[in-house]
Amino acid sequence: MENKKIKIALLGIGTVGGGVYKLIKKRKDMMENLIGTQLEVSKILVHNKRKKREGIDEALITDDWKEILEDKEIRIVVELMGGIEPAKTMILEALKAGKQVVTANKDLLAEYGQELLETAAENRVDLMFEAAVAGGIPIIRPLKQCLAGNEITEIMGIVNGTTNFILTKMFEEGMEFEDALAMATKLGYAEADPTADIKGYDAGRKVAIMASIAFHSRVRFADVYTEGITKISAKDIAYAKELDCVIKLLGIAHNTQDGIEVGVYPVMLDKGHPLASVRDSFNAVYVEGDAVGDAMFYGRGAGEFPTASAVMGDLIETARNLESGCSGRIGCTCYKQIPIKPFEEVKNSFFLRIQVKNEPGVLARIANVFGSHKVSIARVVQKNSKNKSAELVIVTEKVKEYHMQDALDELEGMDITESVCSVIREYDGR
Ligand SMILES: NC(=O)c1ccc[n+]([C@@H]2O[C@H](COP(=O)([O-])OP(=O)(O)OC[C@H]3O[C@@H](n4cnc5c(N)ncnc54)[C@H](OP(=O)(O)O)[C@@H]3O)[C@@H](O)[C@H]2O)c1
Repeated sequence: MENKKIKIALLGIGTVGGGVYKLIKKRKDMMENLIGTQLEVSKILVHNKRKKREGIDEALITDDWKEILEDKEIRIVVELMGGIEPAKTMILEALKAGKQVVTANKDLLAEYGQELLETAAENRVDLMFEAAVAGGIPIIRPLKQCLAGNEITEIMGIVNGTTNFILTKMFEEGMEFEDALAMATKLGYAEADPTADIKGYDAGRKVAIMASIAFHSRVRFADVYTEGITKISAKDIAYAKELDCVIKLLGIAHNTQDGIEVGVYPVMLDKGHPLASVRDSFNAVYVEGDAVGDAMFYGRGAGEFPTASAVMGDLIETARNLESGCSGRIGCTCYKQIPIKPFEEVKNSFFLRIQVKNEPGVLARIANVFGSHKVSIARVVQKNSKNKSAELVIVTEKVKEYHMQDALDELEGMDITESVCSVIREYDGR
């Protein structure tokens, strides 16, 4: 029998590209049975052609994109370079040339997903991106296919392994943020510049992509309120324990009657919630559908082989579609235009830690300020009174974000307030 082959090109052979290259080799014998054809890497685009790359066939390496674009035999382009440009231009050119595209690029999808998916649809080709959200965890295809019969009202998750590792170390070993970050960097969980992780931008991009697919309406990264974990202290974690909670950086999206609420921020989460037990660098996504009920997806959100696993799944699906002549079958699913609710209008309950002067009448004055901004207090605990200073822990009822912010602004200007040390939202469902 003739040995059939589908030729593919890898754009980038770093962490993920290297994993995909190795997996394609390792699974060579399976492909014939799975797809009815072989997958062959015929070109690899890199930035620096002179770099030594162990285990990679040097003859495949090129730094000339046109060599790939103009090669009619290359039918699938796998973009694993990252960043916006030149990845965006290359993907658009590949789609217009009738090539199928697989990518792991969340930055690009969160910003230009619509344009890319529309171009894929116009050219009746596949654009797949399972690895762009939560690495090895299947979530894009489950949302688009397995859960397609549901109306999804909520999707939330721990979608950044670096911050989950840091918060786990703070919770389990009592470490301060800076020490836990240093440990994450040393162990290779955090990048040299960890800004995108610790400020919540990375998680924000993933949540934008997930929410778009879950609610069938475009959510862009700019729509996502983002707040990172840099202000969380060991003291906050100790209070979380007292309240039977953990602190997690959650991406949360709700489809409500008056618009989509979407944000990434640290949350006091009840220990009994399934996401509370997601430790270390693991990720998990929790979905609420009207038919399925609650469903949770758990696993490795990054790394060479977990991410390559997701890319391989897309590659195999794309190759199957090519073999059956049905490419471009599942395109953009954003057929609605649901407004994004301004985050100031979203209601949350808050955990506040405030350092105040230790004198009579302080509590009454704080309650008065909160009351005048429609903030109801659920619990107050006075801790660690030392001479002239006292620490107050206040948990509020649900209140609109802007009312809370106004109350905090007024509180910060008062003579009794020494500092507002922590403002952390509580998750208590909707
Ligand atoms: N790493 C993960 O765990 C993970 C998880 C999920 C998703 N992702 C996504 O996967 C993608 C790849 O990430 P990575 O960690 O594998 O990146 P990486 O290790 O930095 O590798 C990037 C590769 O792309 C090549 N490249 C970069 N810019 C290029 C350009 N302008 N022209 C040609 N080649 C270029 C580099 O070439 P040289 O080798 O010559 O420098 C390198 O081979 C990103 O979109 C990332 O967000 C990564």
